[in-house]
Amino acid sequence: MVVDRGIISRRTGLGLLEAVIHRRRTLDQAMRERARDLGRLDSRDQAFVRRLVLGTLRRFGQSGKAAHEFLAKPLAWPARRADLLLRLGATEILYLDGQPHAAVNSAVAVASADPKTRPYRRLVNAVLRRVADNRQELLDRNIPFAENLPEWLRESWTARFGDETTESIASVLALPAPLDLTCRVTGEESSVARDVGGTVLPNGTVRCSPGGSVEDLPGFQSGDWWVQDAAASLPVRLLGDVRDKLVLDLCAAPGGKSLQLASAGARLISVDHSQDRLRLVEENFQRTGFDPHIVACDAADFRSPEPAPAILLDAPCTATGISRRHPDIRFVKSVRDVAEMAAQQHLLLKAAAEQLPPGGLLVYCVCSLQAEEGPDQVHHILQTRRDLKHVPITADDGVSPEFVTPDGHLQTLPCHWAELGGLDGFFAARLRKST
Ligand SMILES: C[S@@+](CC[C@H](N)C(=O)[O-])C[C@H]1O[C@@H](n2cnc3c(N)ncnc32)[C@H](O)[C@@H]1O
Repeated sequence: MVVDRGIISRRTGLGLLEAVIHRRRTLDQAMRERARDLGRLDSRDQAFVRRLVLGTLRRFGQSGKAAHEFLAKPLAWPARRADLLLRLGATEILYLDGQPHAAVNSAVAVASADPKTRPYRRLVNAVLRRVADNRQELLDRNIPFAENLPEWLRESWTARFGDETTESIASVLALPAPLDLTCRVTGEESSVARDVGGTVLPNGTVRCSPGGSVEDLPGFQSGDWWVQDAAASLPVRLLGDVRDKLVLDLCAAPGGKSLQLASAGARLISVDHSQDRLRLVEENFQRTGFDPHIVACDAADFRSPEPAPAILLDAPCTATGISRRHPDIRFVKSVRDVAEMAAQQHLLLKAAAEQLPPGGLLVYCVCSLQAEEGPDQVHHILQTRRDLKHVPITADDGVSPEFVTPDGHLQTLPCHWAELGGLDGFFAARLRKST
């Protein structure tokens, strides 16, 4: 029997979605688990599956709301998989520019071929047909973007940033992220932008449209740039002039900030506890022509061979600030993870502060939008270590004033620079040890 490629793609997409939503696998884990299914698809279909799954994760609430409009009563527990199929189909019809009838017919075929969804095949057909018939009306209804956030995230962001900003953040998170590049040589931004067909952002990042392979872009092989979101490039600036200074990058892999420090002339030690991820640092350094000094070690146990006047701690976190690039994060992480990460971050901050010589600067940063991992950490460490002083960030640090909070922290939000395509959410704070 010949099975249509469109059906196989959507069936694979449904399997991936189910792994993320119902089994809390990251999308990368789910894709590894389904490598055989994916391997049966050609590269174009694989790209379609990825776009479909990422799109559904980004639009999970809006597509669910749109499809549920046409249900006589809410779906019960046994229909969980069919519900995912409805969201997948509604996303395709409403938010990806495909053929609505292909989306409906394929979803019905997927439902019919699976014993768990077969009882709902007529319902899937009826609902998705109505979504397709009412497409424009559903889009005009402007279902709030915040519907796409799981409750725990929506509540925590609303409490921290307010309803309006949370909706603005969610509106940016509904779209794919651009591809951002940091140039190895300051001053080369315009020529790199010309080569890759991008534009230069106010901070010097080159921004281009994603699509195709990064390795094929001009300047990748010659190491003229590395991939780094514009927001992720800001924390290193807070260390000031690092030329010829010893700098410890305590959670370094895959190495974006280490590369920035190396290109600014720092004597650098890049520490990370993951051997696998350190290989990425090595590859990135080789490609860009810098000489790495890498140490595989828990940052809490690392002891610098000599006092380092500058330390960067880009701590592990729940990464809720980068959930536009990785929308699975919203569904895989939970309040419990926030508490666990916060405990780890405090230990790492304490260890970093221990290493710092009198007068030394420590920049702490995370790509999380959770208060517990950002401002609360700074408050906690300042209470426990009286020899640390907060050094407020100001516009003189070369960061846009809109990113500086009244407390003197750096806080980028996905809705910052929305007209330029938005940013990752990053928090950073600067501390100095008393002399
Ligand atoms: C947010 S990522 C760092 C990104 C990196 N600074 C960059 O700009 O490319 C956090 C890193 O911390 C590492 N990590 C987590 N816990 C650690 C620990 N206890 N000691 C050292 N590294 C750790 C992870 O392996 C991960 O590579």
